[in-house]
Amino acid sequence: MKIFNIFIVSIIYLVSAFAVPIKFGKRQYGDYESRHIEIIDKYTAESTVLLRKNNDFPLSANETSIYLYGNGIRKTIKGGTGSGDVYSRYFENIEEAFIKGGYEILSKDYLDEYDKIYEEAHHKFLEEINSKYDNPIMSMLENMGAKMDEPEYDIPFNQEGDVAIYVLSRISGEGTDRVVKKGDVLLTDTEVKMINALATGYKKFMLVLNTGGPVDLSGLEAVQNILILSQLGCNTSKTLVDIVSGQKYPSGKLTTTWTKYEDYSQIGDFGDKDDTYYKEGIYVGYRYFDSADIDVMFPFGFGLGYTDFEYTVQSVTLEGEEFNVVVSVENIGEFKGKEVIQLYLSKPSTTLDEPYQVLVQFGKTKELAPTESDLLNLKFKLSDFASYDTATATYILDSGAYLVRIGNSSRNTSLCGQINVESKIVVKQLQNKLGTPDFEDFTTVSMKQDSEAELATIPKFILDASSIQTIIQTYDKTYPVSDEVKALTPEQKATLVIGAFGATEGSSSIVGAAAFSVAGAAGQTAMVADLRPVIMADGPAGLRLAKDYFIDETGAHTTEGPFAALIDVLTDEFKEMISYMNPQIPEGATIYHQYATAIPIGTAIAQSWNREFAYVCGDIVGAEMKIFKVQLWLAPALNIHRSILCGRNFEYYSEDPLISGIMAAAITNGVQIHDKAFVTMKHYAANNQETNRYYSNSHVSERAMREIYLKGFEIAIRESNPKAIMTSYNLVNGVHTNESKELTNDILRNEFDFNGIVMTDWMSGFPDNQKYAIPYSNNVIKATGDIYMPGSQGDYDNILKALETNELTMEELEVSAARIYDLAKEIGY
Ligand code: BGC
Repeated sequence: MKIFNIFIVSIIYLVSAFAVPIKFGKRQYGDYESRHIEIIDKYTAESTVLLRKNNDFPLSANETSIYLYGNGIRKTIKGGTGSGDVYSRYFENIEEAFIKGGYEILSKDYLDEYDKIYEEAHHKFLEEINSKYDNPIMSMLENMGAKMDEPEYDIPFNQEGDVAIYVLSRISGEGTDRVVKKGDVLLTDTEVKMINALATGYKKFMLVLNTGGPVDLSGLEAVQNILILSQLGCNTSKTLVDIVSGQKYPSGKLTTTWTKYEDYSQIGDFGDKDDTYYKEGIYVGYRYFDSADIDVMFPFGFGLGYTDFEYTVQSVTLEGEEFNVVVSVENIGEFKGKEVIQLYLSKPSTTLDEPYQVLVQFGKTKELAPTESDLLNLKFKLSDFASYDTATATYILDSGAYLVRIGNSSRNTSLCGQINVESKIVVKQLQNKLGTPDFEDFTTVSMKQDSEAELATIPKFILDASSIQTIIQTYDKTYPVSDEVKALTPEQKATLVIGAFGATEGSSSIVGAAAFSVAGAAGQTAMVADLRPVIMADGPAGLRLAKDYFIDETGAHTTEGPFAALIDVLTDEFKEMISYMNPQIPEGATIYHQYATAIPIGTAIAQSWNREFAYVCGDIVGAEMKIFKVQLWLAPALNIHRSILCGRNFEYYSEDPLISGIMAAAITNGVQIHDKAFVTMKHYAANNQETNRYYSNSHVSERAMREIYLKGFEIAIRESNPKAIMTSYNLVNGVHTNESKELTNDILRNEFDFNGIVMTDWMSGFPDNQKYAIPYSNNVIKATGDIYMPGSQGDYDNILKALETNELTMEELEVSAARIYDLAKEIGY
């Protein structure tokens, strides 16, 4: 039971004074839920991406009998697993949604047979993964996020008919990365066989992908209609019915390249237990594919609609350093739709090696009826896309020609302007902060060339160098410590910086559920002096709280017990062994509910390329935070899709930092418009795999860190002023991110001018038994982190010990304690 104790932190429950029983039946939404689902419903089709079309869809009004196949029909997935999973009141699967939409389902026999195959395979899977462990706790911890691969089977199905839809699902989640094998990233033989048979045998056929990230679609060349439905939270199934019936239309674009697995770059490695080398440097996603001119299946920025568009550049100007394109977009097809126009910049490789192009702006039209047009105004500042020169620790705009491209995917662009920079401009003078990995980043010479003829026709500008003033960065920002904080005892100060530690005593909770004032919230701050706690609940696919809970004299308790989130991987036998830990619900106790709206996964929100939608999602979460008295949402999550194998990619937005930063900012602005509701952007930074995530060391160059992995945070902080940032578990170049004063103080607080609080990811209690040590609370505070989560006796003791030995000064502790104290004063419930 040693490991069990490792994950336990001492917590007691506080009487929840605000619990409101929420009535309504299990399948009947309450007011706020209906309202929120209805609002989201207006946008979710915008997150779906049509990869191929032959205009057989949408169906006409009389085509109401359909064959439904695939694992996603009844086991439709609304989002991934782990702390990003959200408990809604109920979730309707795709079969139910089609029936509700008035369709007759002709493939019930197949669906019933599939259920049996699935149950059998799932039972076998649980037996297998549990057989390696002799106790349930070990099994739970080691198997967190484990998921069954889609089984092979042979069930009779109708090979011919009028309309068939195959929904292919894949789930992934926290704790485990995806694997390149059939049933996960690759399609099973059964899937390939069935999908091809349906594509050729039926008059109309659509393949629908209910996945959180790419699957390898090679071998399906005969399929003419492919839709990425993605995982859209509560609205997933209805959105598909609306798209198939033509009440809605897809208008999303990929934010990550979808192609055959073998096309993805293998330059850097992925998933090593201890050390992962980001040798590809800045060549992540389309930056790599476009530069190496690899012919991908579905490029970054790509997506079709039921209609088609034509765009014409109306004007191009350069004012100071701001480049401005006005473009008109016309619907030239026969269905309504929306189009996304993207601007890319190709920088000259004068001294630094540069990728073929980087995304610098995008805009989405309003809904356009056939023949209707819209004007988009897309602008960007050149200095925002300066490159980082590690040799001089500067952001520079090197001399040479900067080419601006416009289009509707990274592979369908045309030149629209050229800016000439006559001599090198230093945009910002910094200091290198992140160490040097023992390899040189991959470099490449872009293989794509523009034709002289095209280059000759575009407008050309000379940048007025005086429009950019060099910024000399200083690193001396301070935080005022009030007399009130100074007057606290060392013990009180230490308590403030250790999660919920010391609020009271006794009881227990685990990682991801260490709040005791709001059942199922992930954590909270301690209550020192007269402070009220700040409650933190997970996301990003909505507000994650316990669905059902009860109250006794010690506080609010979930009815499911401490392991609710992890128990899915256990056999019945193992579940029984830990049932003694299930809460004793007092006889006659009222069961209260906290139903939250599951919003689309992060990738889906980004795929809408619609800032307004992201804002609306944030607004809904903010409203629910008010209802359930949560002050800090542990989202948005904006790590980069470095590899399609990362198990948590579904929570994140993109392989590109600009769209990641913009989406995170829009969501944040939506949340933070609500009084005392704030976000926690995570996971800062270079947290791109789940394998051994607590101890894994990302070896990354300073340039790749700054231009790819930190960039989204920088943009989001500038555009939305988040209240909190969560550091990641991993190390960067040998230093845990949360123990890095360079990352926290120098870059985050000084360079990015972040003014909020910095918390660790949920660390307490991990054993120090691996190649890289665990982070210690005293080191975190010394690095100007503010709060070590979720907080345990050991973490608290470390602070006091470090004070005694002068490894940590009282002044250092006071600054972090003051930030938490001031936060609790300002927003504690
Ligand atoms: C996850 C975080 C999450 C935290 C609290 C961690 O395991 O990495 O994303 O916010 O738990 O549940």
